[in-house]
Amino acid sequence: MFSRRKFIGQSALGSAAAFLGGVSLNSCNDANGREITKEINTLPVVISTWDFGAKANEVAWGVLGSGGNALDAVEEGVKLIEADEENQSVGIGGLPDRDGRVALDACIMDSEGNAGSVCALEHILHPISVARAVMEKTPHVMLVGEGALEFAVAQGFQKQNLLTEKAKVKWEEWKVEAKYQPIINVELHDTIGMLAVDQQGNISGACTTSGLAFKMRGRVGDSPIIGAGLYVDNEVGGAAATGLGEIVLKSLGSFLIVELMRMGQSPQEACEEAVSRIVEKNKNYKDFQVGFIAVNKSGETGAFSVQKGFNYAVKTTKQNVVLDANSIV
Ligand code: GLY
Repeated sequence: MFSRRKFIGQSALGSAAAFLGGVSLNSCNDANGREITKEINTLPVVISTWDFGAKANEVAWGVLGSGGNALDAVEEGVKLIEADEENQSVGIGGLPDRDGRVALDACIMDSEGNAGSVCALEHILHPISVARAVMEKTPHVMLVGEGALEFAVAQGFQKQNLLTEKAKVKWEEWKVEAKYQPIINVELHDTIGMLAVDQQGNISGACTTSGLAFKMRGRVGDSPIIGAGLYVDNEVGGAAATGLGEIVLKSLGSFLIVELMRMGQSPQEACEEAVSRIVEKNKNYKDFQVGFIAVNKSGETGAFSVQKGFNYAVKTTKQNVVLDANSIV
């Protein structure tokens, strides 16, 4: 049986990255090898998946820095990535399903425990805002496919083409062999998950993706599933996932991490535990990537992944850094 301690021993301790708000708890380096200096913890804090999270964090910070709430911050933050045509794993420009449809998944959760989600939503630039509308304007948590689209249009969201020329070319290339072989940290460099703790200490999270490239029509991953791609409990903290959704769905990793933090683990320890459980249950763990980020009520953050190559961005009062997560492999 794998043990989390053993994994930690195997990973590069020198770059361990756990933050207490603006405080680096141990010597850790950013993605450029620069050492992060120790600082005093203050809220707010924003953490998001992957290096592209850094620019999304800045947008979220624009909301938080002026006293805005965590919910508005995470929505505005991830919208930046949804609208980025160059990003082929989130929003417009995302790689389509095997039939050439860009089908988006997103969810959002606020500090009151409210949640909204959309799955396989086509033609809408900002699925995260539709997810928020589901949360705030319907008695439901999740809308899918045509129903989600109808709701979005009724709410005033404009339909548009999300399949860019660049994504179309990749799809045409893929069709030549039509293999389902996700490439770790490339094709699976996927989701933006963002967690924010605002100045009042309230936590919200958002998660949005175009999902697995060239998926079957109707395939839904972890990202819009509350507890899998994202979970927030304002008494404890929040967590978000990236990577192969099928694996995260079977572990409800984000919920697990929040529960582990509730039981006293740090965000870093909880992320490591969630990843180690995934590895224990999946013999083929060297063939896929899954990464988690987490934050607790005090603004302490953590991250961990199955494979090397997962990075994440943390914005505090002092810095906005991209950090390499430790990993099992
Ligand atoms: N983690 C995103 C997906 O698998 O759809």
